[in-house]
Amino acid sequence: MAKEIFHLLLFFFLLTGIQVVESSSHNHHHHRHRYHIKLNSSKLFVFGDSYVDTGNNPVSESRSWHKPYGLTFPGKPAGRWSDGRVFTDYFASVIGIKSPIPYKWIKVKPELIKYGINFAYGGTGVFDTLSTDPNMTIQINFLQNFIQEGVYSNLDLNSSIALVSAAGNDYSAYLSRNGTLEGLPALIISVVNQLASNLKRIHSLGVKNVVVNGLQPIGCAPYITASSSSRQKCNETVNILVKLHNLLLNQAVNKLNSETNGSTYKIINLYSAFTTVLNNTGNQTFTNPLQQCCKGKNSTYTCGNTENGVEMYTVCENREAAFFWDDVHPTQQGWSAVFSALQASLHQLYSSLMH
Ligand SMILES: *[C@@H]1O[C@H](CO)[C@@H](O)[C@H](O)[C@H]1NC(C)=O
Ligand SMILES: *[C@@H]1O[C@H](CO)[C@@H](O)[C@H](O)[C@H]1NC(C)=O
Ligand SMILES: *[C@@H]1O[C@H](CO)[C@@H](O)[C@H](O)[C@H]1NC(C)=O
Ligand SMILES: *[C@@H]1O[C@H](CO)[C@@H](O)[C@H](O)[C@H]1NC(C)=O
Ligand SMILES: *[C@@H]1O[C@H](CO)[C@@H](O)[C@H](O)[C@H]1NC(C)=O
Ligand SMILES: *[C@@H]1O[C@H](CO)[C@@H](O)[C@H](O)[C@H]1NC(C)=O
Ligand SMILES: *[C@@H]1O[C@H](CO)[C@@H](O)[C@H](O)[C@H]1NC(C)=O
Ligand SMILES: *[C@@H]1O[C@H](CO)[C@@H](O)[C@H](O)[C@H]1NC(C)=O
Ligand SMILES: *[C@@H]1O[C@H](CO)[C@@H](O)[C@H](O)[C@H]1NC(C)=O
Repeated sequence: MAKEIFHLLLFFFLLTGIQVVESSSHNHHHHRHRYHIKLNSSKLFVFGDSYVDTGNNPVSESRSWHKPYGLTFPGKPAGRWSDGRVFTDYFASVIGIKSPIPYKWIKVKPELIKYGINFAYGGTGVFDTLSTDPNMTIQINFLQNFIQEGVYSNLDLNSSIALVSAAGNDYSAYLSRNGTLEGLPALIISVVNQLASNLKRIHSLGVKNVVVNGLQPIGCAPYITASSSSRQKCNETVNILVKLHNLLLNQAVNKLNSETNGSTYKIINLYSAFTTVLNNTGNQTFTNPLQQCCKGKNSTYTCGNTENGVEMYTVCENREAAFFWDDVHPTQQGWSAVFSALQASLHQLYSSLMH
C-alpha cells in the first residue's frame, strides 16, 4: 500500500504545470447571441453541492437562509450560498430558461418543473460528508422517482441537460476528519470513479447531455489560505491535488464519451476560469481577490452567525470588488466574472449540445 501511494505521489507531482483540461484559448469567435440558443422545451437537472444549490438546505439549520446571504439578490436570504446568484443561475440563463426550482420547493410552485429541477444540496458530496443532506446518489434517486411517476416523458428527457458540481466537500470532509495529504490520491481515485458512475447513471435515465464542473483551485479558497498565508496566496499543494482530480475526471469523461459514440458528457473547466479571474487577467478585476467579503468577527464565528440576535460577522463595503463572499463561495460578481471567463468554452459547449 505504501508503495502504491508513493507512486501516486510521484505521479501527481509530475503533473504540476500540465494543462489538465482542454483549453479554450483557440476559440476567437464571440457570437454572443449564440450563447442564448433557445433549446425548445429543454430542462435542466442539477446535482451536487453549494456551488449550484439554489435553496435546498433546511431553512432552520443552514446559514444560507440567514442574513447576510442573498443581500444582493434577491435582497434577502433565499438559500443560495452567496450574496446573490450562483453558477446555476448563469448556466440556466445561457440555455434560455429560468433557473430550475429547488427540489424542496416543488410543492409551492409545481408549474416550474417544466424548466427542470435543482436537486443540489450545499455541503454534500459524491460520498457522505459532514452534511446529513442527501448525497449525490440520493439526489439522482429523486430524479429517477419523478421519471418513474411519469412526470417527465422520454421526449422531455431527450432535450434535457444535467449540471453536476461535486467532490469538493468529499475532500474537505476527509481533511476535517484528520485524513492525511498522503491518503488523498487514493480517495481522489474512488471519488472520481463514483462520480463517473453517477454521470453514467444520469445519462442512462434518459438525460441527453451531462455537464460536470471540474474542480476550482480549492487551494485559493479563504478557508484554506486563512490559516497559512492570511489569505495572501494559494496553497499549491492543495491545488496539485485538485489538478489530479481534474485529470482523472477528464480521463473518465473521455472514456464515457467513447462508450456513447459522441459528446454526451462535457466538462466545464472551472479551474482555469477561476485562475484567470483570481490573477486579474479576466475582464472584471477584484481589489484583493483572495480576501472574503463576509467574515466572522473573530475565529469563533463565520459569515451568517448570530449570538442572542447580535450579528457576529462583518460585510465588506464594496461587494462588487470582492471575489469571495464567505470562506468558500464566490460573490455574485465573482460568479459573473467566472462566467465571462468561460464564455468561449461555453460557446463550444452549447453549440454541441443537443446535436
Ligand atoms: C416546442 O415543443 C412543443 C412541444 O413540447 C411544440 O409544440 C412546439 O412546436 C415546439 N416549438 C419549436 C419551435 O420547435
Ligand atoms: C448515499 O447516502 C445513502 C443514504 O444515507 C447511503 O446508503 C449511501 O451509501 C450513500 N452513497 C454513497 C456513494 O456514499
Ligand atoms: C431523441 O432525439 C434524437 C435526435 O436528437 C432522436 O434520434 C431520438 O429518436 C429521440 N428519442 C426519443 C425517445 O424521443
Ligand atoms: C483532529 O485533530 C484535532 C487536533 O489534533 C483534534 O482536536 C480533533 O478532535 C480531531 N478530529 C477528529 C475528527 O478526529
Ligand atoms: C496547504 O494545505 C495543507 C492541507 O490543509 C497543509 O497541510 C499545508 O501545510 C498547507 N501548505 C502551506 C504552504 O500552507
Ligand atoms: C457506436 O457506433 C457503432 C458504429 O456506428 C455502433 O455499432 C454502436 O452500437 C454505437 N454504440 C452506442 C453506445 O451507441
Ligand atoms: C496565475 O498565477 C499563478 C501564480 O501566481 C500561475 O501559476 C498561473 O499560471 C497563473 N495563471 C494564469 C491563467 O495566468
Ligand atoms: C470571540 O468573541 C466572543 C464574543 O465577543 C468571545 O466570547 C470569544 O472568546 C472570542 N473568541 C476568540 C477566539 O477570540
Ligand atoms: C473581454 O471583453 C472583450 C470585449 O467585450 C471580449 O472580446 C473578450 O472575449 C472578453 N474576455 C473574456 C475573458 O471574457
